[in-house]
Amino acid sequence: MKTKAHLSRKSSEITPFYFIYFNEMALRLDCAEVIWYAQNEGALPLRFLLKLVIFFCIAFIFSGTRAGLFVAAQGGGEMEGKIIKLPEPAHKGSVSLEEAINRRHSVREFRKEELTLNEVSQLLWACAGRTFDSVTGATRTYPSAGGLYPLEMYLAAGDVDGLAAGIYHYLAGEHALTLEHSGDVRRELAHAALGQFFIAEAPASIVISAVYERTAMRYGERGRIRYVHMDAGHAAQNVYLQAVALGLGTVTVGAFDDERVKKVLRLTRGEPLCIMPVGKPR
Ligand SMILES: Cc1cc2nc3c(=O)[nH]c(=O)nc-3n(C[C@H](O)[C@H](O)[C@H](O)COP(=O)(O)O)c2cc1C
Repeated sequence: MKTKAHLSRKSSEITPFYFIYFNEMALRLDCAEVIWYAQNEGALPLRFLLKLVIFFCIAFIFSGTRAGLFVAAQGGGEMEGKIIKLPEPAHKGSVSLEEAINRRHSVREFRKEELTLNEVSQLLWACAGRTFDSVTGATRTYPSAGGLYPLEMYLAAGDVDGLAAGIYHYLAGEHALTLEHSGDVRRELAHAALGQFFIAEAPASIVISAVYERTAMRYGERGRIRYVHMDAGHAAQNVYLQAVALGLGTVTVGAFDDERVKKVLRLTRGEPLCIMPVGKPR
């Protein structure tokens, strides 16, 4: 576990505030008080220091027990709920952005070849991974209205080197997967997607789902019917472009039976928005 903690300047001169990241979790603490006390009192009051201690304790406990909580919640097999760290994603590549945009198209025919764990790692990172920009405070590879991040990404893996077939949940903060359910669901998923059988032929599919309340809580109906879907579109395009850069192909599949997809993926929260089968183009 990383124990790196850092403070970073976020905003304007008039109302400065800071973000605190701990263990690369998306926990944020508004620290406008720090500036005020440092400038006016030259020291921090005990009350504020106490707040910080409580924050770090919660962040530490939360990150340390997450694996255990998942296992308890699933009550499943030995691997289910365990956190599987993904290889570090590359932040530089050999295909230019212009080339990737120019070559992007939907791919629906896949070779019977497995994906590597590095490829899966890179695709999930591009889709929804963590970034850190100390100037803008951006924390993900895609923009999200209000920084509320209503999307949850899943991987339905069937033929991935180093990954047992199953349904995985992507943890952006840890750049890791948790196995939610064992077994190859690709055929079931293809049936749920109204018989689009290329989903069963692709070695894996990324599923973008949304917990609407996260955005609707702040933006109401506008958030629900517009912003969440805009977020998803941005994340999906990242997958398209990353696939091109890796010599892979994908397609956004939006035509499916919502309830059947939820059942196949055992989704206990959120709504599936699109299924993106990925593999080597035929
Ligand atoms: C919201 C959305 C839903 C889509 N649903 C499907 C689908 O269910 N099945 C499919 O084969 N393609 C689907 N597509 C892919 C489009 O058919 C495709 O993007 C379009 O034909 C343009 O082709 P191109 O992506 O190769 O440029 C979808 C695309 C979007 C953006």
